[in-house]
Amino acid sequence: MRSIDWNDESNSIVLIDQTKLPKDRVMLECRGVDALAEAIRSLRVRGAPALGVAGGLGVALAAQISKARGPRDLIQDMEGAAQILRNTRPTAINLSWGIDRVLSKAKVGRSVARIRELALGEAKKMADEDVQKCKQIGEHGASLLEDGDVVLTHCNAGRMGCVDWGTALGIVRSAIEEGKRIKVIACETRPLNQGSRITTWELLQDDIPVTLITDSTIGHVMNSGMVDKVIVGADRIVEDAVFNKIGTYTLSIVAKKHGIPFYVAAPLASFDFDRRASDIEIEERSPSELKYFGDEQIAPLEVKVYNPAFDATPMENISAIITEHGILYPPFSFEEIKQRYQGR
Ligand code: MRU
Repeated sequence: MRSIDWNDESNSIVLIDQTKLPKDRVMLECRGVDALAEAIRSLRVRGAPALGVAGGLGVALAAQISKARGPRDLIQDMEGAAQILRNTRPTAINLSWGIDRVLSKAKVGRSVARIRELALGEAKKMADEDVQKCKQIGEHGASLLEDGDVVLTHCNAGRMGCVDWGTALGIVRSAIEEGKRIKVIACETRPLNQGSRITTWELLQDDIPVTLITDSTIGHVMNSGMVDKVIVGADRIVEDAVFNKIGTYTLSIVAKKHGIPFYVAAPLASFDFDRRASDIEIEERSPSELKYFGDEQIAPLEVKVYNPAFDATPMENISAIITEHGILYPPFSFEEIKQRYQGR
């Protein structure tokens, strides 16, 4: 089951509307760039690797529906679409990475038909590669898990955050495929509850044992010896920090205090070799996410709200980073990683 894909028949992007989970599994068809941009902003499609593919497919979609008659006008339309999509969410680098990859491939084309073909081919390839990379992350990461381990995870770095299989949850899936008995503890991940709504749902679909906790229970479960390893995904990895869902930093501190390994699972597309943590914009979301729970008002409407979607975990709190190419251990020498892997 893919969270996002291209539909050849309707010439559109199809995605699982993740805001409807776990109650309903609703497929959404995006036939235009504005519809896709809305889906990204409202987290109907979400998670860094899935956003990368959404960006790539979005540029390909723009090429298919453009009325341009010549290559130059077509590229201009695609660049316009790229700008709209790029502005939807700032923190996950994968979004721009996916957009740029399809744009630069398409620009090689010399005719409208060829540009359309190149763009769509590249975007579809990205979706297939994402599944492959998650499987590779899964295989590498599974070597870090032992039979009987309990893995705590935050947000959703599973099938729904990627095209399929998942990064953090991909490691759990691969370890289980190897015959290891693994249990998961999922943090609910306030305020949008990606953990309770999506992670528990997708794990239960696969019969993987999962226990849901509130975010404020993390200290208690770690102090009680209930957690063997923490595995999270990433929205952007820079030289001095890993950006991921708000609460990840706190998790890393509690894990370090209790001597519990803290692993980050992400494809190389999540690495930003050119910036440091202080350069990165952390998305701030609407105050209404904290003032309402569904339709229910849960805070005074006049209260001041601070609602960042991500935080930065310093490298010294991270035990290893698992990529599709293998496991990176501290000290994470960015110069070396860059030389070995950039552009792969
Ligand atoms: O706001 P979201 O739901 O897009 O945030 C997603 C996360 O923080 C994930 O942990 C991250 O993107 C990795 S998904 C494999």
